[in-house]
Formats: sequence, structure tokens, C-alpha cells
Amino acid sequence: MDWGIENRLSRLIKEDGRCQFLPIDHGYFQGPTSCLEKPSETIEGLLPYADGLFVTRGVLRSSVPSNTSTPIILRVSGVTSIIGADLSNETITTSIDEIIRLNAAAVGISIFVGSDYEKQTLTNLSQLVNQCEPYGIPVMAVTAVGKELEKRTGRYLALSCRIAAELGARIVKTYYSPDDFDKVVEGCPVPVVIAGGPKCETELEVFEFVYDGIQKGAIGVNLGRNVWQNPNPVPMMRALHAVIHDNAKPGEAQELYHDLSG
Ligand code: 5RP
Repeated sequence: MDWGIENRLSRLIKEDGRCQFLPIDHGYFQGPTSCLEKPSETIEGLLPYADGLFVTRGVLRSSVPSNTSTPIILRVSGVTSIIGADLSNETITTSIDEIIRLNAAAVGISIFVGSDYEKQTLTNLSQLVNQCEPYGIPVMAVTAVGKELEKRTGRYLALSCRIAAELGARIVKTYYSPDDFDKVVEGCPVPVVIAGGPKCETELEVFEFVYDGIQKGAIGVNLGRNVWQNPNPVPMMRALHAVIHDNAKPGEAQELYHDLSG
């Protein structure tokens, strides 16, 4: 692996081989999502605890201090909305010049395997890899399902993750599945990080799926709503840190969350 790619990945994935990414990119198709109405306010308190921040260029320029030492994963796909015809009809939104100018440590792009726009989104991924690799910028593929959350079976996610890796993604972000998540990770020759999906009922549920996903080989998380829609987002972030970086069990993380929440 080239030095530049290795260096950028080492800023995002810590020495223990694990990572805790913070996505604040939901506005790119959902608009002012609950608890992200003012992105700068959500980002400010959580940024020191994130191993990487996943944002669009608009939120980066308007809402993230330029002296941050947290590496940035730039969301570079979009042009659809939650009220439009099809969330999967995405293109690449950001040029390679802009990615370099913004000093991104990595870029993230969605693919929608099995959708009407499967070929288009997989072409987007391939082209982005072609544009970023010569500059040593790793691409993180996001296996997206749009509104069809029921698609998130182990079998489907294994297919999507493997295709993403084959097309050149250096990291794949996918959902956790209670069934066959070990097969999802084993079938993907690059590191897998877990996305959260809609907010769970309890904190314990979150700690349990993250713990199980990591035991099954994921290297970390990219959890958004289950962090910043929690009434105590900083304790949630720190308790998740314990699961990811200190191998805390779900019950221990729950205890830590309660202690930190006062
Ligand atoms: C939304 C994304 C998010 O980064 C991803 O879904 C993780 O966030 P959450 O944990 O809230 O699902 O790609 O476009």
C-alpha cells in the first residue's frame, strides 16, 4: 500500500486496529434532521471523541473548525432527497480538486445494490476510486438501502460489501445484521465498519449490536442517530468508545453510560 493511503488510514483507524466514526451527513438527503438542525452545535461537543467525522463539504465549511485535528471523511455522493422519486439515483457530488483542497483523510460514497440504480451507483464508486487512488485518498463505500430497511439481511449485506471491496473501496460501511454478520465480514477482504440505522429503543440494544459486530470482525462503527439523538450524546459516545477500543462488554458500557450521564 502506498505511504499516502497508509498514512490517511492510520489517522482514521487507531493503533488497536479499531475506529469510531461520527456521521453528520444525514442532511444531504433528509434536510434538517432531528438533533442536526444546527450541525455546528451537534458537532462541537462530540468532535473530540470521534476518530473520524463524516460530513459533506457544505457542513465541513460552515460548521467544523478548520483547526480540528479530527480527520475528515468527506461524503461525496448525493443529489437525491427523501421526498424525491428514488434515493438510489445518486451521482458523485464533489470533484477530486475539492477533495484535496479540503484535506480529506478519506471520502465516502453510497452504493445501492439491487436497486434500479445499481449500475449507476457502482459506476460512481469505481470512478471515485479511479480519481482518488492516484492521490492516496482512501474510498469508504456505504452499502445503502434507502427506505427499504428490510433489505438488511446478512445475505444481502455480504453481497453488497463484497462488491464494494472488489470495486476498490478501502473500507466498507454496512449495517449490522443479527443473522450471518460473521459471513458479511469474512466475505469482505477490506475492513468493515457498522452503521447504526434509526435510533434504538434503549442504549443497551446499541451496545449489544456493536459488541456483537466487533466480536464478529467489524473494526468499528459509523454511528449517527444512536449517538446524537440520545439525550446524553457525550456519555453515549464515550461508552461506545469503551466497547470499541477497550473491549467493554455491553453491561459495562451501560454502567459507564449511566455513570457519565449523572
Ligand atoms: C446516512 C449515512 C450515515 O452515515 C449512516 O447511515 C450512519 O448513520 P446512522 O447511524 O444514523 O444510520 O450514510 O446517509
